[in-house]
Amino acid sequence: MAPYLHGHHATVLRSHEWRTVENSAPHLLPYLTDPSLKILDVGCGPGTITVDLASRLPQGFVYAIDPSAEVIEKAKKHAEEKGITNVRFETGDVFHWDKLEGVKAGSFDIVHAHQVLQHLQDPLGALKEMKKLTKPGGVVAIRDVDYSNMNWYPEMQGIREWLDLYIRLAKRINCDPNIGRRLHAIAMEAGFDRSEIDTTTQTWLFSTPEERTYWCGMWADRVFQSNFKTSAIESGFATDDDIQRISDTWRAFEKAEDGWFAVPNGEIICHVKA
Ligand SMILES: C[S@@+](CC[C@H](N)C(=O)[O-])C[C@H]1O[C@@H](n2cnc3c(N)ncnc32)[C@H](O)[C@@H]1O
Repeated sequence: MAPYLHGHHATVLRSHEWRTVENSAPHLLPYLTDPSLKILDVGCGPGTITVDLASRLPQGFVYAIDPSAEVIEKAKKHAEEKGITNVRFETGDVFHWDKLEGVKAGSFDIVHAHQVLQHLQDPLGALKEMKKLTKPGGVVAIRDVDYSNMNWYPEMQGIREWLDLYIRLAKRINCDPNIGRRLHAIAMEAGFDRSEIDTTTQTWLFSTPEERTYWCGMWADRVFQSNFKTSAIESGFATDDDIQRISDTWRAFEKAEDGWFAVPNGEIICHVKA
């Protein structure tokens, strides 16, 4: 398994920890009507979406996996702090779910992955495994960003440089940063009929001062401190000066009172035949 491009530095987790069901899994809300559902959260990261899901299913259960033992510890701590007990976090990988105690084929009502497929070299293989894990009549739910469709105002060259650099770095390790626009196509390749796939798109928008501080301030730090900088320098795609300029631009964007940054996400709900 190739390393996760961003790594789990605090600046990366700052972005993941903001996530809730409402802001990051709105496509799942219509499916959370039965409080006894059993969900598998694949690539749960620090687990804020996972814990939010579990809190909405008092008689249900959420099993969550991530290959990073470090981030799984953070997720467990988050669940403890929130007093949520109907959740289980395990270090694990979607391609080796058979090694996980309590994870069986056809045993989950919902198999969910948020911003995970874009980081995999074999997203089709992952989707096939997720399909296997879903009960007949259940759903596979996936949501991923489309980097090339991000848009912003005012135009700033350093932001465009950041985007181009990010896309090159992701493609260098055979990941697709624009996967959000073709999740349904991957699901069809995985054996779902087009009529069994619901497709939606929803956008994260960062425009108020608080939103800009969160998103732009986070990226201003993250380009320096996460794996982003190491990969950019090692690959020869950027220099220290480039990284500094990109970070400074994010900082300027954060301060731009008329700033507006949109991050479009593709979403699919795949219905597994009953
Ligand atoms: C962008 S983070 C998303 C975290 C979380 N779903 C969220 O939205 O807050 C992607 C996560 O996928 C995990 N991941 C990478 N490869 C994986 C694999 N083969 N199986 C399961 N998770 C994986 C990474 O460790 C990382 O924590």
